[in-house]
Amino acid sequence: MSSRAPALAATLAKPASAPAGVPLGAMQARPAAVSPAVAPPMWLLAELTYRCPLHCAFCYNPVDYASNLNELSTAQWLDVIRQGRKLGAAQLGFSGGEPLLRDDLEELVAEGHRLGYYTNLITSGVGLSEPRIARLKAAGLDHIQLSFQDSSREMNDFLSSTRTFDLKSRVAALIKQYDYPMVLNVVLHRYNLDHVERIIEMALAMGVEYLELANTQYYGWGLVNRAQLMPSQEQLRRAEAVVNAWREKIGKRLRILFVVPDYFEDRPKACMNGWGSVFLAVAADGSALPCHAARSIPNMEFPHVTRQSLQQIWYDSDAFNKFRGDAWMKEPCRTCEDKHKDFGGCRCQALALTGDAANADPVCGKSADHDKVVRIVRQAQAAQVGQGGAQPLLFRSDANSRKLARAKK
Ligand code: FES
Repeated sequence: MSSRAPALAATLAKPASAPAGVPLGAMQARPAAVSPAVAPPMWLLAELTYRCPLHCAFCYNPVDYASNLNELSTAQWLDVIRQGRKLGAAQLGFSGGEPLLRDDLEELVAEGHRLGYYTNLITSGVGLSEPRIARLKAAGLDHIQLSFQDSSREMNDFLSSTRTFDLKSRVAALIKQYDYPMVLNVVLHRYNLDHVERIIEMALAMGVEYLELANTQYYGWGLVNRAQLMPSQEQLRRAEAVVNAWREKIGKRLRILFVVPDYFEDRPKACMNGWGSVFLAVAADGSALPCHAARSIPNMEFPHVTRQSLQQIWYDSDAFNKFRGDAWMKEPCRTCEDKHKDFGGCRCQALALTGDAANADPVCGKSADHDKVVRIVRQAQAAQVGQGGAQPLLFRSDANSRKLARAKK
């Protein structure tokens, strides 16, 4: 699953991909003007389960996910989907964990389709048999995004800690057979950036129409494994050159999105296109989140879909209002001319790197903490795969999740 989330975050960070964003201040006094000014969500993401057959070391799921494996029932998900549509959401994503582990996926897709959503399945492919894809097609599923970890069986299977390469290859063929537009997503990092050429060749051979080469975003398990996953500048430069050469060569036959890790930039990404602006995620246990990593922010209470309506959650909850607009911003964001373009960057990244989610995202060259990002990147220059004293990757698993949850206490 992990492999898909960073691409989603990257997609939402692109101003062109989606329409679009109140604060520390809003916690105390929510401006009366907020509700009418706030547009409805565009994207409803149903993270149906945190269960997953894969063990990706860059998974964006919370590292302590195994401490709470409760899941909403079918009736509760149906209610969320109906409320989301009524609220105005147009796109409904099914993610996880692995959403195919839910036996009711077809029923949820069918309801989404009936209500007029554009429905999207974000999957590792594990569990997508021919009868299943036929049922999903009949239910009205519009789009499937399949993740691969690399172009070779050895590396794909190492990075997911499973033997799934052959199965994924069969699923790719099924997706084509059932006439779906196919998006292939590969999360990039130090271990596979040098394989970009072969990944593109693999995508072409599979008849992929849209290839997302999204460098790892450092949240969840990706943050735990940051030192091991961070590529060198040289690796990135080479990979980007390869992508550009292929774009020239093949034109529109395969559209390739290459997302640079934002630690290598000096302008922050417009994360989620602004907090509480277009994106509403509902986690497996029913918590409503303004972004998938939001639970990493301490001292925030996230509303629950069984206790409040989605309408109340979206417009009136403290969690969704906390970083909307710009009243919460400190300097340098408060007076920055780009604040309505980048919204101060990513709240979760500001928290992870500075300890305060209301700070400017330190990826920004204007942030007083930008040197932290520069240092992290420099350390990565020295380290190459198998060198630099990096610890082994910590793969996502229930046992590791419980261990990390205990260590956090
Ligand atoms: Fe960027 Fe949470 S991941 S705001």
